[in-house]
Amino acid sequence: MIDDLSGGLTARHPVEDDHSRVLAVVDAWWGGLKGEAGALERALLLPRLYFQHFTTTSFVVERDGRDGGGGGEGDGQLVAFLVGFLSQSEPDAAYVHFVGVDPGLHGQGVGRSLYRAFFALARSHGRRYVHCITSPQNTASQSFHARLGFTSSAVKPDYDGPGLDRVAFTIDLAAR
Ligand SMILES: CC(C)(COP(=O)(O)OP(=O)(O)OC[C@H]1O[C@@H](n2cnc3c(N)ncnc32)[C@H](O)[C@@H]1OP(=O)(O)O)[C@@H](O)C(=O)NCCC(=O)NCCS
Repeated sequence: MIDDLSGGLTARHPVEDDHSRVLAVVDAWWGGLKGEAGALERALLLPRLYFQHFTTTSFVVERDGRDGGGGGEGDGQLVAFLVGFLSQSEPDAAYVHFVGVDPGLHGQGVGRSLYRAFFALARSHGRRYVHCITSPQNTASQSFHARLGFTSSAVKPDYDGPGLDRVAFTIDLAAR
């Protein structure tokens, strides 16, 4: 499904049981960014519905299963995920809602592989633009998206509600 992952890692679309597995790692993977308020924000950003109704446009990456590979879904250790979807209202757009990589694997191209797979999926559905957002405090996310070729907005105050400022990213897949 994603053929440029390093050895021992495999990707698949998520299933509903992955919801709790992802929730269990986000705080550690985000390094506790923005403290308790950040933890609440992250939990509220990932309700179960993403693991019910957006699975075919999302990915999880696992290390080989406990039985040495070939096991069932959820057998491996979760090391990365991308939750995305095709815009229902903008026929030329797709959206990456949430992405995370185990800190032990940062800088090894896993995030880039997930985006590459999502770009291919978006293209195959005729989508030209991919959008996403992050918080202004998440400078790692901003550097990552810039390296992938996204353009970023200025900080948008109260974008997601009072006190919830965001930076918005866009990439034009036709220009790549
Ligand atoms: C942001 C994140 C997804 C990047 O994943 P990753 O697997 O480490 O990224 P990659 O190894 O694929 O890096 C791709 C490019 O981005 C760059 N990059 C990644 N993280 C970076 C950082 N913190 N600072 C500067 N550049 C960075 C890499 O150097 C690489 O560039 P190159 O190929 O030109 O050398 C990961 O750091 C993460 O999960 N962070 C915590 C969760 C988060 O903030 N998610 C995004 C917001 S929703």
